[in-house]
Amino acid sequence: MAGTTTDLERQLAELLEQERFEPPQAFVQDALIKDRSVHEEAERDPEGWWREQARALHWFSEPEQALDDSNPPFYTWFADGTLNASYNCLDRHVEAGLGDRVAFHWRGEEGEEREITYAWLLEQTQRAANALKDHGVGEGDVVGIFLPMIPEVVVAMLACARIGAPHNVVFGGFSAESVRERMEFSDAKALITVDGARRKGKVAAVKAAVDAVGMPVKTTIVVRHTGLEECPMGEGDVWWHEALEAADPECAPAQLGAEHPLFILYSSGSTAKPKGIQHTTGGYLTHVAWTHKHVFDLKPESDVYFCSADVGWITGHSYIVYGPLLNATTSVMYEGAPDYPHKGIWWELCERYGATIFYTAPTAIRACIKWGVEHVEKADLSRLRLLGTVGEPINPKAWLWYWKVVGGERCPVVDTWWQTETGGIMITTLPGAQAMKPGVAGTPLPGIAAAVLTEEGEEVPRGTQGLLSLSRPWPGMLRTLFGDDDRYVGTYWEKWGPETYLVGDASKQDDEDYVSVIGRVDDVLNVSGHRMSTAEIESAIVSHGKVAEAAVIGAADEDTGQSVAAFVTLEGDLQGSDELVAEIREHVAVRIGKLARPKRIIWADDLPKTRSGKIMRRLLKDIAEGRELGDVTTLRDPHVMAQLEGKIKERA
Ligand code: WTA
Repeated sequence: MAGTTTDLERQLAELLEQERFEPPQAFVQDALIKDRSVHEEAERDPEGWWREQARALHWFSEPEQALDDSNPPFYTWFADGTLNASYNCLDRHVEAGLGDRVAFHWRGEEGEEREITYAWLLEQTQRAANALKDHGVGEGDVVGIFLPMIPEVVVAMLACARIGAPHNVVFGGFSAESVRERMEFSDAKALITVDGARRKGKVAAVKAAVDAVGMPVKTTIVVRHTGLEECPMGEGDVWWHEALEAADPECAPAQLGAEHPLFILYSSGSTAKPKGIQHTTGGYLTHVAWTHKHVFDLKPESDVYFCSADVGWITGHSYIVYGPLLNATTSVMYEGAPDYPHKGIWWELCERYGATIFYTAPTAIRACIKWGVEHVEKADLSRLRLLGTVGEPINPKAWLWYWKVVGGERCPVVDTWWQTETGGIMITTLPGAQAMKPGVAGTPLPGIAAAVLTEEGEEVPRGTQGLLSLSRPWPGMLRTLFGDDDRYVGTYWEKWGPETYLVGDASKQDDEDYVSVIGRVDDVLNVSGHRMSTAEIESAIVSHGKVAEAAVIGAADEDTGQSVAAFVTLEGDLQGSDELVAEIREHVAVRIGKLARPKRIIWADDLPKTRSGKIMRRLLKDIAEGRELGDVTTLRDPHVMAQLEGKIKERA
């Protein structure tokens, strides 16, 4: 075994020399797109091209118009068309005779299996839609969804879409406190949640936790999942199964304007208050349908698609729910963690269901590398033909490992760059048409335009680092931040004006138009591909009674990309201790969620500040990552740094 590892390491080191990988011939032969003519065609008339792609959807009335840019940056797409997302995801496939097709091979943590067909989803969705109506939810009312990875989460989202109630899904890893905040911000009328959630063999009482903080909604609908005995049901609480049972089985899909909001999804920005990113129906669905089909080279009759994300993130919305269902895909959906019940569970599921396409995050790949090739090699992965990644830059070593160990050097790897705000994939390689460069995402997709700019908005020379921008509206783009048009304009469209979208990522572009993304330039952290804001974590830490001040930074981390490091000053003469570290970590878990807990807490007598009182995070980052300190002369009190450096050395 040791011999194999060395062989593998040697082979990977050799591959590391290779900057360019052509798509494997066998793949190209059957690929939907084999050359760059689609890019060229779209470039000649982007709006007209997108209008053509919108025909892949079913419209109750076809749109004549594509982009309306008369009021930038408030763009609309296909505004004169009407459609329904759930009809597009379900009814039309069932009407076409695909009712028995499996939409999801669902696997529970303890090995349970459910085969979720399109017909079942349609039946359940109609009932759930009527149940929502029965409980006072109408068109335009926001519905919160706080559910684990179970088929009901898909039903809940589509039921909302059926009646035109925008959903607001909160990732199951967030705390009840975060859920309450998001329900409040979005003025939600109802919440769909669960009795309990399972995580690595343990059960967490979700409904009880939700009750403990109190939700500002009239109705809470509770899915019975773990069968927890202590699931408190009070006034305004209804069981999902009872509500669906009592509901009428038929619910005509609402005929909604293309710009009707489909969902809100809260995402971290550079202030403590999360941003309610708002997506609409026609443009979003057009974008995710096209990209899901062509980036993953999807053949719905023969492919089995497995995206390991959680539905609570945008990747789950676009590439577990809407994209795949629009394309009548058969997917694998797994409830559990990647290392439960064992470290080879993903590969076991790939084999079991014959997965042909696998989409995950670089952080997960790095974890798999650490766990060892034996977990991958145990499974027969010969049906895999395409691999994808998303969420953060992938380091070439991890890319090559994925390509070689998981893909057996026969599966193209698509490194897909996009954001919650963009709705769908924006930059990548089309797998049958473009060479791959490990660590470099690819080119803007057909219809998409990107440029790397200076602060002033000038294009930087090729190969030079600058700020990534999107220079043309696209159908899946966010339309605003929920209830806050000013923040929408201020965050994305103020720097360079209302025609150039500020991404917030540093990047470079090469002579072949390939974009490599370096990382965020704002105070947004990326831990294991999860977006968090330093301000949000800081405000959670400071709300702890013993803390006076806190500064949070993302420190480079081999496993998770970045990790949360917090510099904390305590009230009065209090001294830091291991118990206090545990207390603060727990406090953050309760306020935001476990994923935001600082990996490292550094006690500071004071924080380095400029004369105007701004915390100099750059210096804290240098300290945490063990670098030589840069210029400290602008500090109000340069001694602060010496004290902090001393602390770090003590620990090391
Ligand atoms: C980062 C996730 C490099 C980037 C879909 C972006 C990436 C942020 C990539 C959005 C990639 C995402 N290469 N960086 N392929 N994909 N990012 O909103 O910094 O959770 O701005 O959306 O993740 O994160 P979000």
